[in-house]
Amino acid sequence: MSLDAQDPTRTDFPALGISDSAGVGFLFEQLKARFLADLARAAAHSEWERVRDHWSGAGGVPQRIAANWVHQAPDNLRPLLFRERENLISFINIRLMTTQPLKQLGIVNAEQVAARFRDLRNIFDSEIERCIDEVDLGIDKTAWLGRKSGVITQITENWLKTSSPELKPAIGKELNSLRAHIETTIEGRQQKISAAAESAALARERVDLSLPGVDRPIGSRHLIRQTFEEIERIFLSLGFAVVEGREIETPYYNFEALNIPEHHPARDMMDTFYLDLPPGSQPHLLRTHTSPMQIHTMEKQQPPVRIIVPGKVYRRDNPDATHSYMFHQVEGLAVDTDITFCEFKGTVEYFVREFLGPAAKTRLRPSYFPFTEPSVEIDASCFVCGGSGCRLCKFSGWIELFGAGMVDPAVYGFVNYDSKRVSGYAFGMGVDRLSQLKYGIDDVQLFFQNDVRFLRQFP
Ligand code: PHE
Repeated sequence: MSLDAQDPTRTDFPALGISDSAGVGFLFEQLKARFLADLARAAAHSEWERVRDHWSGAGGVPQRIAANWVHQAPDNLRPLLFRERENLISFINIRLMTTQPLKQLGIVNAEQVAARFRDLRNIFDSEIERCIDEVDLGIDKTAWLGRKSGVITQITENWLKTSSPELKPAIGKELNSLRAHIETTIEGRQQKISAAAESAALARERVDLSLPGVDRPIGSRHLIRQTFEEIERIFLSLGFAVVEGREIETPYYNFEALNIPEHHPARDMMDTFYLDLPPGSQPHLLRTHTSPMQIHTMEKQQPPVRIIVPGKVYRRDNPDATHSYMFHQVEGLAVDTDITFCEFKGTVEYFVREFLGPAAKTRLRPSYFPFTEPSVEIDASCFVCGGSGCRLCKFSGWIELFGAGMVDPAVYGFVNYDSKRVSGYAFGMGVDRLSQLKYGIDDVQLFFQNDVRFLRQFP
């Protein structure tokens, strides 16, 4: 069989269709395998020389790789091809050198033995010099010290065991010193590589303490949340508890139990969103106010009740400067055996002064809610003009704050409270409206647009 049959080194690199480093690696692996197969077949001396000439002689494989591959490779693969070629050359040279008994290599005396070992050592030294990482080193270690076909094993098998008794001591001595040299060199190289890797890692991971830190803007609580907390603070100081409720309610809790029967006109002002549920399900809606929590609380708890309920509510309103389909309320409910209108008025006045400042005066104006009787609107003296009249108060001197009233005895009927024994008051304030008034915000939509230029003004 011809050694040149399908020898890829006769083909120009671009024609091999290899475009990446994996392809190059595979190509050279194939070459090594071919070489080892040729070597195994080259039992006869004459054959061996042909193999040697083909793989290492002038005009042989290495020279063709240089001419046809390295020089014709694309720029990105050329350095790799160059390195692989160097590796292949020493792989071939060592094996050519160590597969033949010394006698056949024409080595008959101790000087020649020493010279051969010097060659080997030089090859090893230059190979080890090329190792740049642990992977390279591992490959070299197996190539030289590997039990099965490492160079040391090959020499033991092919040179030492077949040698004449006179040369044996010389070979043995050289072999031992070569092995020792290989072992210590690999060990030293190993240390160098890991030290280099470590300092590279240290350099990579070094923390530059002089760099300015990452500047993360600190957020602030939304103005609505701040107002919630302000209102909660005031009522907590009066002994109220804060409870929260569900935003999805049944019409019973949102309307009926609050004394708003099905065809009551008050429902028109509180049109809302109904959930799209499978036919036959109980209807559910988004609550139009926090008042359903009055019912839930009284169903669960006997008097005394003193709660406030902050939360979101929904109405089918078109958005404008004072309307939004979602807004915020704080409900209040106090029920006990001895609550009078007087206590109600005092509490509300206290709240208004705490919330708007000690100069704020309070006015109660008759109003109507189905679940309070009597019902009132709480007005505060205009804090812009102090009551003399301005644009904010529409020149009335008063500003409407929120609705309230004494709990309608009809409501107690829905929660099994004894309306003869208990009395109480309730209120429901719009948090968005109160924030707008207190902070002079002319458009409620600003609360929901989340423009930081707006939010930043209320740190
Ligand atoms: N729930 C009423 C509303 O949303 C406000 C209110 C609550 C009035 C409690 C009186 C008592 O308009």
